[in-house]
Amino acid sequence: MTTKISSLARASVQAIEPYASARRSMSGGAIWLNANENALAPSYQLEGSFNRYPSCQPAALVQAYADYAGVQPEQVLVSRGADEGIELLIRSFCEPVEDRIAICPPTYGMYAISAQSNQVETVSVPLLPDFTLDTEALMQCSAKLVFICSPNNPTGDLIPRQQIIEVLEHFQGKALVVVDEAYIEFAMQASVVDLLAQYPHLVILRTLSKAFALAGLRCGFTLAAPEVIQALKQMIAPYPIAEPVAQVAVQALSQQGITRMQQSVATINELRAAFSQFVAGQPGVSSVWPSNANYVLLQVDDAAACVSALQAEGILIRNQSAQRGLSEVVRVSIGSPEEMQAVQQAMQRYFSSCTTGTAADSTPDQSMQVQEENT
Ligand SMILES: Cc1ncc(COP(=O)(O)O)c(C=O)c1O
Repeated sequence: MTTKISSLARASVQAIEPYASARRSMSGGAIWLNANENALAPSYQLEGSFNRYPSCQPAALVQAYADYAGVQPEQVLVSRGADEGIELLIRSFCEPVEDRIAICPPTYGMYAISAQSNQVETVSVPLLPDFTLDTEALMQCSAKLVFICSPNNPTGDLIPRQQIIEVLEHFQGKALVVVDEAYIEFAMQASVVDLLAQYPHLVILRTLSKAFALAGLRCGFTLAAPEVIQALKQMIAPYPIAEPVAQVAVQALSQQGITRMQQSVATINELRAAFSQFVAGQPGVSSVWPSNANYVLLQVDDAAACVSALQAEGILIRNQSAQRGLSEVVRVSIGSPEEMQAVQQAMQRYFSSCTTGTAADSTPDQSMQVQEENT
């Protein structure tokens, strides 16, 4: 008798549709504007040998991030990206099958996928049409973790501080409120990190993947009350942070590294303003959403055709049309000045070909692969 090996996997695993990450869903191309990375990347030096296991929570790195964020080291957990922080929160605080998380779509896809892979149900409380929280609906749901993303991916909106406080007040003693600040450096004044002092059930997620231009490093942080951090440490792998990762992250968080990051944020915010203005004047663009992060959402006549036309020119952007309320919407990450010039020229060609009815055959370059997007 033959058994298909895949059928031996847990039923809940067989049912999962993995996160369609930008890298997984599109490859090839020369200009990558589909993963909200930072193209203005400095280089780093590594020192020494790597024959010893690293510390689970490298002290110098934890201290450096605590200093940067203005919290105590006991309030910091370092992990393999903010994604591992999301996973650890769900695994540490949610009982499989019994507990639920709440999310506010359209939002980052990994909250629901991590929940599903841990057999935790997701309750969706969609954002209101102005992309603020539906606080009334949120407060009616029972959940162990409430995920709020600000600036929100993909909308770029900031969730009003007063709404976050309202949600925190309501869920006191009932749930953890997780505010994902992966993009906060692009709108630093909006951080709610100061609220940690008042609300022990507030958790903040941060990352070096965006403003710090270190997506390839896989280094993120969870900021919370020491009791929450302690619970996460019970679940984390023994050696999650490789020694080279810790070395580079400490350099990024030095005074010089922070200054460099702030300069690149200022450049990106200027490029974003110029790009938003450019696309707003294009004939095929019906909406451009204001953004507080390193990407811009725009609504076009045909999102799939727009993505393919740019892809045919070696430029990758992301179709967000599968997200709730984002029909025919694409998201463009802000790249280097040269990349932004290239995307603007390519978009101009595409939009003018649409208005003149001469849209070129936009069959993607043979070296590129596209799969269906699920977020
Ligand atoms: C809102 C949000 N949170 C978390 C992450 C994951 O960040 P990391 O690269 O640190 O895992 C992303 C990545 O795109 C994101 O957009």
